[in-house]
Amino acid sequence: MMTRLNLFLFTFTILSSHLLSASASDLILTKVDRRIDLSSQIVRTTTTLKVENTGSDIVSEILLSFPENHVNHLAHLTATLNEGRGKAKTSSGVGLPVEVVHPKGVPPKLTIYSVTLPKGLGKGDSLTLDVLAVFSHILKPFPEKITQADIQLLLFQESAYYISPYAVKVQSLTVKLPDARVESYTKLEDTKLQGSELKYGAYENLPPFSYLPIVIHFENNQPFAVAKELVREIEISHWGNVQITEHYNLVHGGAQSKGEFSRLDYQARPYVRGASAFRRLVAKLPPRAHSVYYRDEIGNISTSSLWGDSKKTELVIEPRYPIFGGWKTAFTIGYGLPLKDFLFGLDGKRFLNISFGSPINELVIDTLIVKVVLPEGSKDISASVPFPVKQRQETKFSHLDIAGRPVVVLEKNDAVPEHNEHFQVYYKFNCLSMLREPLMLISGFFFLFVASIVYMHADLSISKSSASYLAKIQWEEVQATVRQVHNIISRCLTTHDKLEASLHDLSRTGDVQACKATRKSVDSSLKELTKELKSPVAFLQSSPQAAQILPKVEEVIVKERDLQEKLMAKHSTVVDCYEKKLGGREIENRVALHHQKIAALRLEIDDIMDLIDEI
Ligand SMILES: *[C@@H]1O[C@H](CO)[C@@H](O)[C@H](O)[C@H]1NC(C)=O
Ligand SMILES: *[C@@H]1O[C@H](CO)[C@@H](O)[C@H](O)[C@H]1NC(C)=O
Repeated sequence: MMTRLNLFLFTFTILSSHLLSASASDLILTKVDRRIDLSSQIVRTTTTLKVENTGSDIVSEILLSFPENHVNHLAHLTATLNEGRGKAKTSSGVGLPVEVVHPKGVPPKLTIYSVTLPKGLGKGDSLTLDVLAVFSHILKPFPEKITQADIQLLLFQESAYYISPYAVKVQSLTVKLPDARVESYTKLEDTKLQGSELKYGAYENLPPFSYLPIVIHFENNQPFAVAKELVREIEISHWGNVQITEHYNLVHGGAQSKGEFSRLDYQARPYVRGASAFRRLVAKLPPRAHSVYYRDEIGNISTSSLWGDSKKTELVIEPRYPIFGGWKTAFTIGYGLPLKDFLFGLDGKRFLNISFGSPINELVIDTLIVKVVLPEGSKDISASVPFPVKQRQETKFSHLDIAGRPVVVLEKNDAVPEHNEHFQVYYKFNCLSMLREPLMLISGFFFLFVASIVYMHADLSISKSSASYLAKIQWEEVQATVRQVHNIISRCLTTHDKLEASLHDLSRTGDVQACKATRKSVDSSLKELTKELKSPVAFLQSSPQAAQILPKVEEVIVKERDLQEKLMAKHSTVVDCYEKKLGGREIENRVALHHQKIAALRLEIDDIMDLIDEI
């Protein structure tokens, strides 16, 4: 294996004999501290540079250099002036302008970025610059293919020396690893592994473009959730709502899974067998999000859970099966937000101010398309995004639209959580247009009304005592009763969700008493609902017209009761584990089987419910 590692090492070499233009060498870096965070699939490098001007000319730009194999994965780069004194570091927050430049005398395979300073750095002056570079797809799984039982190992290549066009007096590098095993790492003279931190340096007095390759091979079982494409649609309704719909095309971007997948193995020991698979993703939605749903190709997934406080709403997304390396899944989440939190007025214009990226934690998005659907009749449309995006306009038609709604389409490649910044869409709108649709509706209803009067008169010709008339009202009665049953079962299912939510609360707060109290109240509401079912079911059993639908109704009732029992059993198992203070893995092991049965039952019930709903 080491020989293959060495191949990586020497793919990149630098001839450091060249020199940049004279003004560049007037600057020196008196101190460089680098921190690299390898704890998720996204790599973040934070560098603090102390820059001093030793020449006599005023310098207005600082150059940063990145090797080619890193630049290709660079998703986000910001440089901010650090104006804090002493320990209290405060970055001024506003990023300085950064652009790619091509100065002469740069060694091959290096890309140079220039940071423009707000004011020139005079002779003998110094400043501190914070640089954040965020990389996606830079960690290479090695081996590239693993079985279900293997852990996921990754390779990361860096230079122990900070590669810079300037001489560096003192520097150090700290690499933060996930809380896990390190398979191997390049050991140099000043290398220390302390817990999960790997330290290189300090190194002193190195000339420009010094480079010393290192490779770190380590375990990382974080979910490598990569959205090949995410389409976020943000639809504004002036009647008080912003509707968000997000279509995800997700893949596990880590080591490819090989060999056969054994669900039995996975269920028995989900953490050991399938350590790198992901079971759930967490989305942080804005506070006051409502009507939240999550569905895939098959239908709504109601086993996902939701909780919130005044600062955020958290949605836990659980795909129907665990996602292993290379596996794909597609799903949609949707939610509504109060308009007044996101739409504002300014100088006779309106503007939407909302966050750009995905609410899912640590997600890498290869192509992110944000569509803002404005109300019909909006004019003078413009968008303002704090980073470069491709822009175009479309038109969307929905019912009642005449001219269609203008849609602003913004496209960004290689999006990481750092792109989750606010952006604005400005537009002008005439309030009278808002009344057009209701007016259309009102006139529509008027015609319907006239038509129904005509119909009623026609219907009078059928004798009220005729057999067909009787059959018709009896059938209507059956339909109404089935709807009543449907409604009661739906309420049971909502009550189940409360039970599941209480377990998530328990995992967060550890409050066993509150959890038991919820269970008691859930138990009594379910009993009530069971009582409510009696009379409609008795009616259906006695009605000949219900003969067709009755078996389905009875089946769904039996299944719901079965599900109730399983949920209660799972609940008491978890509460029991908490009382015995067992660890998360142990709990997971004990409920894995319940969990699978519950999901399957719930799916069956949802199917029958859809069927019943259609009569
Ligand atoms: C899924 O749930 C949402 C919100 O509860 C609802 O609007 C939608 O119609 C449901 N879709 C299906 C296919 O049941
Ligand atoms: C948009 O909202 C964010 C967060 O609430 C706020 O910090 C920012 O100033 C707003 N931008 C504009 C242009 O109002």
